[in-house]
Amino acid sequence: MASLLLQCCFFLFAYLSMIQICLGNTNTVGNVKLDLYYESLCPFSAKFIMSKLPVIFENGLMDIVDLRLFPWGNAKLASNNSITCQHGPKECLLNTVEACAIYAWPNVDVHVPFITCVESQASAGKYKEWKACFQELGLDPEPVNTCYKGEGGKQLELIYANLTASLKPPHVYVPWVVVDGKPLEDDYENFISHICKAYKGIPPTACVKTSLASALKGGVHALPLSDKENKPQRPRSNENLVLRSVMDGLDYINPAVM
Ligand SMILES: *[C@@H]1O[C@H](CO)[C@@H](O)[C@H](O)[C@H]1NC(C)=O
Ligand SMILES: *[C@@H]1O[C@H](CO)[C@@H](O)[C@H](O)[C@H]1NC(C)=O
Repeated sequence: MASLLLQCCFFLFAYLSMIQICLGNTNTVGNVKLDLYYESLCPFSAKFIMSKLPVIFENGLMDIVDLRLFPWGNAKLASNNSITCQHGPKECLLNTVEACAIYAWPNVDVHVPFITCVESQASAGKYKEWKACFQELGLDPEPVNTCYKGEGGKQLELIYANLTASLKPPHVYVPWVVVDGKPLEDDYENFISHICKAYKGIPPTACVKTSLASALKGGVHALPLSDKENKPQRPRSNENLVLRSVMDGLDYINPAVM
C-alpha cells in the first residue's frame, strides 16, 4: 500500500514537473527589460557601456533581454526648450548622436556597438574622433549625420528628456540601470544577477553559471562568460529590439525633418 502510494506520488511528481517544463517551453515568458539611463561623457556611464554591457552580448543573455538606452542623464531642459548638459555642449552633441544612432538603427546589435565605439573614443579623450566609428563598424554615416545636425536630433533629445523625467522613482545619478522597472541603484554593476532573478523562464546557461559562480565564490555575480556554446542561436528579431516607447514618441516627429 505504502509503496503503491509512493509510486503514485512519484508519478504525480513526474507529471507535475513535466507540466512545469512544458510551461517553461511555451515561449509565453516575457523578456526582462533592461533600461540604461546615461549621459555620453560621464566616465561611469562610459565604463558601464564599454566593460559591463558587452558581457550580455557574449554570454547569450541578450536572448532574454529587451535592452533600451536613454542618452540624456542629468541634462537639463529649460522652459524655452534649450538643453544644458552636465559635461557641456560636447556632451549634448554626443547624446544627440547616440539618440540618432538608436533611431537610425533600432536593432541593438547595430546601435549598441556604435555607441560603445563612440564612448570608447570619448573616454580616451578622442572626443572629435567619434566619426571614425562609422567606418570602423561599416555603417552608413548619412542617417545619423542628417539627424544630429538637424531638428530630428533635437526632437529625439526632447523625447529622452521626457522619458528620463518620467522615471518613477526618479533617477539620482547616472548610469541609472533599471531591470523590469526596478532601479538597481548602486548595485548596477551586478545587473546580470538581477536579470537572472527577474527572468521567469528556464534559466539560460549564463544564469546557471552566474549563480553557481556566485555560490562558489561568495558574491561574484557578473562573470565575463564568453563561451562559444552560448552564442545566440538565432538572430534576434527586429520587433523585439525596437524601443517601443521611443518609437511611440517619434510619432510626433515630422519625418520630413529626419
Ligand atoms: C533659454 O533659457 C535659458 C535659461 O533660462 C537661457 O540661458 C537661454 O539664453 C535661453 N535661450 C534662448 C534661445 O532663448
Ligand atoms: C512627457 O510627455 C507626455 C506626452 O506629451 C506628457 O503628458 C508628460 O507630462 C511628459 N512628462 C514629463 C515628465 O515631462
